[in-house]
Amino acid sequence: MTARPIDGKALAAALRAEVAARAAALPYRPGLVVVLVGEDAASTLYVRNKERAARAAGFESRTIRLPAETGEAELLSVIAGLNADDAVDGILVQLPLPAQIRTGAIIRAIDPAKDVDGFHPENVAALALGAPRLAPCTPRGIFLLLRAAGVEPRGARALVLGRSNIVGRPMAALLLAGDATVTIAHSRTRDLAAECRRAEILIAAVGRPAMVKGDWIAPGATVIDVGINRGADGALVGDVDYQAALGVAGAITPVPGGVGPMTIACLLENTLIAAAARRG
Ligand code: GUN
Repeated sequence: MTARPIDGKALAAALRAEVAARAAALPYRPGLVVVLVGEDAASTLYVRNKERAARAAGFESRTIRLPAETGEAELLSVIAGLNADDAVDGILVQLPLPAQIRTGAIIRAIDPAKDVDGFHPENVAALALGAPRLAPCTPRGIFLLLRAAGVEPRGARALVLGRSNIVGRPMAALLLAGDATVTIAHSRTRDLAAECRRAEILIAAVGRPAMVKGDWIAPGATVIDVGINRGADGALVGDVDYQAALGVAGAITPVPGGVGPMTIACLLENTLIAAAARRG
């Protein structure tokens, strides 16, 4: 068997086009502000891509770049200004933040109605209670990928590998809201391989290159690879051994071109949702 590749790039392009068309029909331009503290290379690249995508969708978009030494109080005052600015519908503070800033304090300071990352405790609670408002972009993108690939979460055994606040935990909550039978596995899970092998939907979000081996995958399973790691040769590698998985899985997302593009498309969709909720 050769697994069917799930084309995240194509689906993301379609979603971005749909968001742009919906934005063009509004009497205002949705506004997205991205805040970047410091100069981490990966974060700088992600932020640039987010700003570009927002502009391409017809949004009003800018990035606030702050030096790595920025203090928590200073960042809180930037956020207070954005909360009060009526032209700003979405606020995204790129993570990770430098060590002198408490991430939780920053996330709690963002107006939940403008929290397009879905990280504020109010939005986390809405998702945990099964009624998502602004859902985190990567898990939401994965949910849309599954739907587009014709994979039904209802009743399926889903395994989420990884328990980060950005991907693993909200992914599990979304799958549960979609009536899947959900297991969360992590670095302390006993016999990870056996847990993975039971899954009909396997979502790998651990950040370890090619950790999921071919014989960890059930024949015909749907495999979603969230990892973006650099291999020894500098090439991008996912969390799944892609070549081995191709011979076992039923469908699989490639890296790059799978989950990554959907994250940005869902950020645009969240900004549109936030704008509509605020402005009617
Ligand atoms: N860093 C890595 N992924 C994300 C994300 O989805 N949102 C933010 N704000 N920072 C990130």
